[in-house]
Amino acid sequence: MAPYLPLGLLVLAWLAAGVQAHVGAWHIGMYCLNGTSGRDDHNTNDAVLPLYNMTKENWWFHHDNGCDQFPPEDGDFLDLPVNGTFTVEHAVNRAFTTLSYNGTEIAEFGDGEDHPGMGKEGADGDCITAINIHTQNETMAAGTAFAISYQSDLSAVTPENLVVFTVLYHSPWKRIATYSVPNLPACPPEGCICAWGWVPNGCGLANMYHLGYRCKVVGHTGDAAVAPGQPPVWCEDDPERCVQGPKQMLYWHQSEGNNIEVEGYDLSGHLKSPAYNDKCGFKNGAQHDIFLDKGSAVPTSIPASPMRHKLPSLIPSAPRDRRGRGTAIEVLLEYAHRFLMMAYSLPLFVYYYARV
Ligand SMILES: *[C@@H]1O[C@H](CO)[C@@H](O)[C@H](O)[C@H]1NC(C)=O
Ligand SMILES: *[C@@H]1O[C@H](CO)[C@@H](O)[C@H](O)[C@H]1NC(C)=O
Ligand SMILES: *[C@@H]1O[C@H](CO)[C@@H](O)[C@H](O)[C@H]1NC(C)=O
Ligand SMILES: *[C@@H]1O[C@H](CO)[C@@H](O)[C@H](O)[C@H]1NC(C)=O
Ligand SMILES: *[C@@H]1O[C@H](CO)[C@@H](O)[C@H](O)[C@H]1NC(C)=O
Repeated sequence: MAPYLPLGLLVLAWLAAGVQAHVGAWHIGMYCLNGTSGRDDHNTNDAVLPLYNMTKENWWFHHDNGCDQFPPEDGDFLDLPVNGTFTVEHAVNRAFTTLSYNGTEIAEFGDGEDHPGMGKEGADGDCITAINIHTQNETMAAGTAFAISYQSDLSAVTPENLVVFTVLYHSPWKRIATYSVPNLPACPPEGCICAWGWVPNGCGLANMYHLGYRCKVVGHTGDAAVAPGQPPVWCEDDPERCVQGPKQMLYWHQSEGNNIEVEGYDLSGHLKSPAYNDKCGFKNGAQHDIFLDKGSAVPTSIPASPMRHKLPSLIPSAPRDRRGRGTAIEVLLEYAHRFLMMAYSLPLFVYYYARV
C-alpha cells in the first residue's frame, strides 16, 4: 500500500491543480452553474475553462464543453439596476463562491485563500502562481467586462448585438467584483442575454473567456436603445484611433471569429495583448456612449428579481484559520498542489516569454 501513496497524492494534487486553473464570474443567473455533468456539482470549474485556438462554434458562449446548453433555472437572473451596480464572484471554481457549500469555503480571493500581501512584495515582474489569475499584481490585471444583447434566446445573439456595457479595470483580482450599470433600457419580458469576458495580459497562455448569463435591467429603465457594437481596435499609442461608442467584446487568439489582431509590443515593452482597458479604448465603469437617440426605447419600471441568493457582497468573508482544520494529509496535499501548480504553469510561462 505504502509505495502507492505518493503516486496517489501526486494524481490527486494534479487533479486539484486542474480544478484550480483560471477564473470565471459566478452568479446564480449564469449558464453552467451546476457544471455540465447533469447533477448539482458544487465543485465544478466547467464554466471557467479557458478558450484558446477554437472554432467560433466552440468558443461562442463556451459551447466547447456544452456550457451553453445549461441555462440558469427559470426565474434566475443577473439583475442590472439602472445607474446602479451589481456584484459577481471571480473564482477558479464554484466551490470557492457563496453558491457552494453554504459559502463555507469563501475567502478574499477566488481560490478560497486570503493571500495576504500577494502581488505587493517585490515589483520584479514575477507572475503570480499561487492562484492562476494571469497577472503580476492588481495593477497589471488586464480588466474584465460584461456585455448585453437585447435578445432572450441565446441562439439570436451575435457579436454585433452583444455590446459591452461595463468594464472593471484591474480585474480579476479579489473574489468580490462589482460592476457599474449605465442608463440601460428594459429587456424583453423573458430577459436579455449577457456575457462576461476577460482577455488576460500574459502570465500564461493568451486565452479568453466568454460565459453566458440570463440578465434583466431593473429599476426605472432608460429611454434610449443600445446601438450595434463595432469591433474594438488597439489604440494605446494613438487615442484618436480608439473606437468611440458601442463596442463588441474582444475575440482574440481563436482559430475563427476573431475581431482584433495585434502585432509587436505595447508602450511598457510587453507583447501587445488586447484587453478591456484603455489600450483598446474601453473606459473604466459603466459605458455611457453605447446608446441610440433618446426616445428609441420606452422607459418603464421593472422590479428586482426575488432574491433567491444572498448577494455575495453581503456575506462577510471572515478570516478563518484554514490551516488549523487541516489533517496532515490535507497539508501535504496542499503543498504538493502548490508545487504542481508551479510545475503546471511553467510551460505556459515558457511559451509566453519565448515569444517575447
Ligand atoms: C442545479 O441542480 C439543482 C439540484 O439538482 C437543481 O435544483 C437546479 O435547478 C440546477 N440548476 C440549474 C441551473 O440547472
Ligand atoms: C490551432 O489549432 C490548429 C488545428 O485546429 C492547429 O493546426 C494549430 O497548430 C493550432 N495553433 C496553435 C497556435 O496552437
Ligand atoms: C447549508 O445550510 C443549511 C441550513 O443551515 C443546512 O441544512 C445544509 O445542510 C447546509 N448545506 C451544506 C452543504 O453545508
Ligand atoms: C506590478 O507589476 C508590474 C510588472 O511586473 C510592475 O512594473 C509594477 O511596478 C508592479 N506594481 C506594483 C504596485 O507592484
Ligand atoms: C440614470 O442616469 C441618467 C443620466 O445619466 C438619468 O437621466 C436617469 O434619470 C437616471 N435614471 C435613474 C433610474 O436613476
